[in-house]
Amino acid sequence: MTVALIIGTQWGDEGKGKVVDYFSKNADYVVRFQGGNNAGHTIKVGEEVYKLHITPSGVIQGKTGVIGNGVVIDPEILIGEIENLTKRGIKPKLLISDRANIIMPYHKILDGAEEQLLGDKKIGTTKRGIGPCYSDKISRNGIRATDLTDKKTLNKLLERIIPVKQKIIDIYGIDHTINKEKILDVYSNYGQRLKDFITTTHIELNKAIQNGKDIIFEGAQGTMLDVDYGTYPYTTSSHTIAGGSTIGAGIGPKHIESIIGIVKAYTTRVGEGPLPTELFDKTGEYLQQKGHEFGTTTSRPRRCGWLDLVVLRHSTMISGVTQLAITKLDVLNGLKQVKICTKYQLNDRKIDFFPANIEDVKKCKPIYKEFEGWGEMDKDAEKISDLPKEAQKYLKFIEKELQIPITLISIGPGRTETIEV
Ligand code: GDP
Ligand code: IMO
Ligand code: MG
Repeated sequence: MTVALIIGTQWGDEGKGKVVDYFSKNADYVVRFQGGNNAGHTIKVGEEVYKLHITPSGVIQGKTGVIGNGVVIDPEILIGEIENLTKRGIKPKLLISDRANIIMPYHKILDGAEEQLLGDKKIGTTKRGIGPCYSDKISRNGIRATDLTDKKTLNKLLERIIPVKQKIIDIYGIDHTINKEKILDVYSNYGQRLKDFITTTHIELNKAIQNGKDIIFEGAQGTMLDVDYGTYPYTTSSHTIAGGSTIGAGIGPKHIESIIGIVKAYTTRVGEGPLPTELFDKTGEYLQQKGHEFGTTTSRPRRCGWLDLVVLRHSTMISGVTQLAITKLDVLNGLKQVKICTKYQLNDRKIDFFPANIEDVKKCKPIYKEFEGWGEMDKDAEKISDLPKEAQKYLKFIEKELQIPITLISIGPGRTETIEV
């Protein structure tokens, strides 16, 4: 039995989808435990490309996908993904937690309205209603998967919640009247479509652990978007770190055996907020073009920069990462020189930790160690020693600085472009 957790260590889009798919071949269950369809996980199998926003990536390998209680679900998007996958010949096996909160139409309206009001101070959210849905969960105004399957309960909850939401929408000056009857009809219809999947996933998962099954937890976003440990307030609204998995799936922390931190070989970020190693020059453009760094969910260009060890020290510590998977190493091919940030200069101090104060973060100037670049690498490389010497040096430095072994290296989006160490 193995219970492995796969999480992003940067600002998301590290290649979690590819790595989860790779490890899914040995799994029985693949579990999403936080976030919603703000995520966009890409899986490439031969010439087929799948972009999943809410369905766990393991379904592509025919494994059971579990959507845990910590996830926020837009049922319209989920049903769309199920239909799409089915059309493509993959009928997803799914289990949805009865306790997962549901993204409602007014959440999406409010996400857009808040961002618009903030203007140039906006977060740059995906406008999928994620923040407002998690806010309602915490303030106990949420609607959960179980409620969709029972029209009477749903009606009662909508009667309680909608007047409050209408007031807020009116304050924003938005010309929109929430139509309770329409929502009741549409969402109880979603409930009927999904009812066979909605269940006590926490019980199923704990039984699976007892029975020695293999489980992969699939993180969404990344540590620097965590609501506590990220660049707050420029974060998402959930716990993207390892701790989020036990809360978001209902399993005890002692069951998790390995925590795999996915590290993109450089850094990217979508949306607003500080990115200390951001490159505004030709190298930044090179990484963006070569790495196809355009958002999987919103198609926005991703900002690019050098690898940042201050970030990685922070993220691997908080989550107790036991092994590293380095992705997109191939994107650095062809650069004369590559750099890794080892510390920040903050005013007159050199620091090696990530500050909490966002104005301090904005002032941090990266201090770099420079490495000689390398040319192309063999797409069929099977072991580290097949990689260019300079690339090996780059990897060794990361491993040594973080004191965590690199156990997987990805050198292309496909399944086969993977080196297990
Ligand atoms: P996720 O959100 O962490 O799952 O990552 P995304 O799917 O949003 O973005 C990662 C992108 O990089 C996708 O287009 C992947 O197909 C691609 N990708 C993953 N690993 C590699 C790799 O090692 N090399 C290259 N060139 N592309 C990769
Ligand atoms: P995956 O799982 C990258 C970013 C948004 C924005 C901030 C808040 O594919 O790595 P939200 O809609 O969550 O309130 O937006 O978080 N963001 C992501 N960036 N990858 C993601 O997911 C992201 N999910 C949210 O761009 O800056
Ligand atoms: Mg993504």
